[in-house]
Amino acid sequence: MKKLVIEGKRDLKGEVHISGAKNSVVALIPATILTRGKCIIRNVPDISDVRMLISMMRELGSVVTFENEILTIDNSNVNPTCISEEYASKIRASYYFMGSLLGRYHHAEMSFPGGCVIGSRPIDFHINSFKKMGAKIEEKFDGFIMNVDGFKGIDIFFDFPSVGATVNVMIAAVLAKGTTRIVNAAREPEIENVADFLISMGAKITGAGSGTIIIEGVENLGDGEIDVIPDRIEAGTYLIIGSLLGTDFKVTGVIEEHITSLISKLKDAGVSIDVNGSTIKVSKPDRLKPVNIKTTVYPGFPTDLGQPMSTFLTQCEGESLFEETIYENRLRHIPHLNNMGADIKAFDKTAIIKGKTDLVGRKVKATDLRAGASMLVAGMIADGTTTIYNIEHLLRGYERIVSKLNNVGANIKLIDE
Ligand code: EPZ
Repeated sequence: MKKLVIEGKRDLKGEVHISGAKNSVVALIPATILTRGKCIIRNVPDISDVRMLISMMRELGSVVTFENEILTIDNSNVNPTCISEEYASKIRASYYFMGSLLGRYHHAEMSFPGGCVIGSRPIDFHINSFKKMGAKIEEKFDGFIMNVDGFKGIDIFFDFPSVGATVNVMIAAVLAKGTTRIVNAAREPEIENVADFLISMGAKITGAGSGTIIIEGVENLGDGEIDVIPDRIEAGTYLIIGSLLGTDFKVTGVIEEHITSLISKLKDAGVSIDVNGSTIKVSKPDRLKPVNIKTTVYPGFPTDLGQPMSTFLTQCEGESLFEETIYENRLRHIPHLNNMGADIKAFDKTAIIKGKTDLVGRKVKATDLRAGASMLVAGMIADGTTTIYNIEHLLRGYERIVSKLNNVGANIKLIDE
């Protein structure tokens, strides 16, 4: 069991460099199954989700090296067996192996994908799309057995622009017979990153990043290479922390347009923000104004920044309204914030946050990845010592979070007990 012990209220000064995006790399790695060629993926964050996926790839017979943020993957001897429960249930992104194993080997066996406690997180869009493309899918008591003679290109319409389903259908369609058109596709930047990787292998994809993506099936693929885009959620989390504690605080290696929604809201709250290329400087203002946050799909305010942002709102003088619209259960951190002295009333997926409240260090726990981020922000601004338990969640999505923050003046200890 790992925990973080944080001494709060320390001025932060200096630079935090942003790592590669978790939600991109967790798709890029399974996507390599589509080719027998060699793949190089650069700017890979060393986080537990990546380590888990490397183990899954090796279980399939892939030869993987990972050093200096560079992954090399050779799938020439992959022997697609089933993806074992040991891994698949621990990481939601394991569902991307469905698209790539079916697309390349026409067979996939895996247990139900994992996830965290933020919602039911069904994968019906994925399953129904694969069936429309010709797959036969048998649901067993512990997972799926999936077979297809070869995917057929077809029009796929999503009731909701699902990130995972958009990526999974794109992966599945690359080697399909004919053309696949995804309508009402998700537009998150990670999707374009995955498309660029597939195109580097020889895939024919247009429209990634827009609401309509067209994939023209090809016979086979060759070597691939890609640079993972910066993690916009990591960047946003550090900008929120810098807005509360930064005196001369910079976040570097950011793509500003990926977090325009957050920057706009921080400015509305009175934070001074200076964007200079891929470096963003924030300084905490004397007073913060209340702002209303409603999470939605890209380019709207990202659901993954909702929880850390709700901690920020406890420091705004007045009443802020926070509304989560993507997941049904993403307010589990609120009781922990109130336990630290916040004044938040939550109803279903909406919270009314009154500030400014002085938070006091407490023993709290991370209920999921971004709830952990919310507790981290709270511990950084609270009086005294905050201990966050279950921080394995946090280490899934934030590379070297302790050293990155201690290097700019924080006082955080990671204790393995
Ligand atoms: C991705 O999850 C991210 N995870 C999530 O980040 C992120 O919050 C989410 O996209 C939205 O941006 C990864 O990329 C690994 P969705 P995903 O499919 O693909 C419903 C984090 O903290 N839905 O866009 O699962 C679903 O229940 C994580 O880094 C269906 O109903 O998100 C949810 O309410 C958390 N049926 C909504 O759509 C489906 O088949 C959004 O899901 C698929 C999704």
